[in-house]
Amino acid sequence: MSEKAIQQDAQTPEQSRHDYLMGKTLADFVIQRRPTPDIFAWTKEFDEATNYQAEQGHHMYRRVLLSANGSHVTVEDPKTKQPREMIMMGSNSYLGINNHPKVKAAALAAIDKYGVGAGSPPHFSGYYDLHRELEKGLSELKGTEDTILYPSGYSTNVGLISCFMGPKDTIILDKLAHASIIDGALLSGAKITTFRHNDMNSLERVLEQTGKNAQGDRLVIVEGVYSMDGDIAPLKEIYELVKKHNAKLMVDEAHSTGVLGKTGKGSPEHFDLEGKLDFVMGTFSKSLGGVGGFVSAKKEVVKYLRFYSRAYFFAASPTPMQVAAQIAALDVLKTEPIWNQRLWENIKYFHAELRKRNFDIERTQTAITPVVIGDSWKMREITKILHENNVFVNPVPYPAVPRKKDRLRLSLSATHTREDLDKVLAALDEANAKHNFEMQEEQ
Ligand SMILES: Cc1ncc(COP(=O)(O)O)c(C=O)c1O
Repeated sequence: MSEKAIQQDAQTPEQSRHDYLMGKTLADFVIQRRPTPDIFAWTKEFDEATNYQAEQGHHMYRRVLLSANGSHVTVEDPKTKQPREMIMMGSNSYLGINNHPKVKAAALAAIDKYGVGAGSPPHFSGYYDLHRELEKGLSELKGTEDTILYPSGYSTNVGLISCFMGPKDTIILDKLAHASIIDGALLSGAKITTFRHNDMNSLERVLEQTGKNAQGDRLVIVEGVYSMDGDIAPLKEIYELVKKHNAKLMVDEAHSTGVLGKTGKGSPEHFDLEGKLDFVMGTFSKSLGGVGGFVSAKKEVVKYLRFYSRAYFFAASPTPMQVAAQIAALDVLKTEPIWNQRLWENIKYFHAELRKRNFDIERTQTAITPVVIGDSWKMREITKILHENNVFVNPVPYPAVPRKKDRLRLSLSATHTREDLDKVLAALDEANAKHNFEMQEEQ
């Protein structure tokens, strides 16, 4: 709890209730902490705390968008219910492709020709010429032989990992692995072990230890760009280590596709590893502006997934319009390098400005820009100030990030102008003046 919430002199019942409810964090309501057998008593308590916080402007989740999710959005204000024009700093559409005219036109044309739903999982009647074309485009993008499409990035990770790993195998994860990777690993029943974030000595130690008496296979899973910190995995070194220790390597390209590499193809291009990685996983929901996921790999690996990955086999195919939009998105990536260039100009400018202010932005190197606040109440209060200044940011508390690393997660887009970014900086300055979140000098 923070300074405000623990004021000692406020002892009226209303004030105590206020302090109690405002002191609650999302971490307090995880299911493992449930004190009673009755789940509905628990959801009632959660509802009461989050409703109260919403009244105080402290629950800024699921704000309702009334426009396309671009650099400028119209949002229904949670309190007044009136439309509010805001600068969007919370979208993962790093290149603005979700609203690109060519991509929208492709989706509309696909609706016209194919209707809105795929009608079935891919093995039955849900596989179209569009799906085949997108698979081919993604294989070219990632420099692999073949590609399989999934309905979401989340189900891609769950479907891929749980398909290949079983109780005899070992999964080796970076400490900051995304929830979808962890869930896939848990579902697989494999042994799970972690290494320190982006620490090659730690990875090597784990590879050595797990290599002794290993019965099954070993799969190391990393992310090209980390989703909450924005830093890049040292993939070349990881690749060398994994090969030296005779394990397999999977890279999650959710936040690197469209961002890394000289033509925006992602980590394999950036590290000159095209065609060498065992599993390249990606999503359409970030730079490519849509929804869905994919795995690119060797032909026979993809074929096996098509039959034994339950998240593929037992789920309806991505809709033709989504797939058509993604084909157009790949074309935009290839033919309009300006978006990737603008994104990088924005990244350089914004990060330099935040560093000048001595804000804690972790080790970010990319569009994902954390501003670590470290305290849940303060993070929510700052989010409220930014909202009142028409700046939309996502507050990310523990346990979504490590303890005392509660943060604002700002995402940069190619479509932000310098003026937008300066307005965001001014709003952050105003919030910082009230709730100092500069890093303190080490004593
Ligand atoms: C690293 C990473 N992998 C996978 C996913 C899941 O992707 P999707 O949201 O497209 O289902 C995400 C989403 O946030 C992510 O950040």
